[in-house]
Amino acid sequence: MPATVVVGAQWGDEGKGRVTDLFARDADYVVRYQGGNNAGHTIVVGSERFALSLVPSGVMYTGTVPVIASGVVIDPQVLLEEIGMLEERGVDPSRLRISANAHLIMPYHRKLDTVIERYLGRNRIGTTKRGIGPAYTDKYARTGIRVQDLFDPAIFVDKLEAVLAEKNKILTRVYNQLPMDAGRIAEEYLVYAERLLPMVEETSRLIWDALAEGRTVLFEGAQGTLLDIDHGTYPFVTSSNPSAGGAAIGAGVGPKVLDRVVGVAKAYISRVGSGPFPTELSDETGDRMIEIGGEYGTVTGRRRRCGWLDLVALRYACRVNSLTELFITKLDVLSGFDKIKAATSYTSLGETYTEFPRQQRVLYNCAPIYSEMTGWEEDLSETRRFGDLPPAARRYIEFIEDQAGVPVGWVSVGPEREQVVTR
Ligand code: IMP
Repeated sequence: MPATVVVGAQWGDEGKGRVTDLFARDADYVVRYQGGNNAGHTIVVGSERFALSLVPSGVMYTGTVPVIASGVVIDPQVLLEEIGMLEERGVDPSRLRISANAHLIMPYHRKLDTVIERYLGRNRIGTTKRGIGPAYTDKYARTGIRVQDLFDPAIFVDKLEAVLAEKNKILTRVYNQLPMDAGRIAEEYLVYAERLLPMVEETSRLIWDALAEGRTVLFEGAQGTLLDIDHGTYPFVTSSNPSAGGAAIGAGVGPKVLDRVVGVAKAYISRVGSGPFPTELSDETGDRMIEIGGEYGTVTGRRRRCGWLDLVALRYACRVNSLTELFITKLDVLSGFDKIKAATSYTSLGETYTEFPRQQRVLYNCAPIYSEMTGWEEDLSETRRFGDLPPAARRYIEFIEDQAGVPVGWVSVGPEREQVVTR
């Protein structure tokens, strides 16, 4: 797997953390290419559970270099806390490399994320309130502050004062908040600079050299395809490109170097935050998925909305990402359900759709058309071979594969590293 992308094929929370953790074992570099600390990756190693939001999962292996690439937005306080937590728990994060071009999440981004959501009221996105959207907004408005600016205090203060003058007007006049003080922010951030400096690098070059030497590089996406700013359910999306193309842009490599694109999808589906969700279940079955699947956000603790697998959306994700393989997670959660359903098409406003609808009005009115299959009772947690899965579970996976048109290479049957069926 010289250059493999791991991408979420749903609305995030597919279990990418455990997948990248598994693949990272054979990777020399693990590169996070977009998003920020809105992501939450849970990795279970023995009895230990690690929740990472910024540091790539590769940090858990001593032979792997974790890289935070240019497409990521970094809240330095959160990053340093995460580094501290890893050190305290005996994981060495010193190999971490951080792009000098990554943008910084500033205190006014966090503040704006909160007040904008409040202002939007019932139209709110349901963001994680970590300042992600406002930080990317500044990046594209070309008023962002980058990691490299931390190492030139005069430039840092200049940029901060210029941008804060505008932000303070917005905070005070539009959102009725107190202004923020540039001096205080500079004091706080310039202290972070000292600790970050040894890890900062031209990561695009680092990745290029690694690939040229034949090293294996794993590109780790955060969130998922349906949260992609360009290809997701806009405006209920995140502000970056989680889909596979984002790996090339965010890491600073050409798309031709990407050999494999592994899409991660849960055996059912979930979404956290607002927005359309055709197969959402607001009944006992949905509650059961939430309880058995432990469907509460790693970052915000919010209860996730759950529903049956949406194969219309999955086919869309296969196309948008050019997926080469699928990794189906949490199949074990569906044990004990009498019937398993999966949406193969939608009806909306009198029409039938087998393709993910382009128009939001259509998507909002979609009712799923399900294929129904017999479930299985057996506990799958000890299963390691595809042939040992109950026939009904095997049929379900084969049905997914057939509908998606992409082979399923792995199925996870529990949160532990080794609880994976490899085909
Ligand atoms: P933001 O990324 O905080 O701006 O939030 C935008 C939308 O993306 C909201 O619906 C969030 O709940 C969702 N979101 C952001 N990060 C994640 C994630 O890691 N998993 C699932 N949903 C996410």
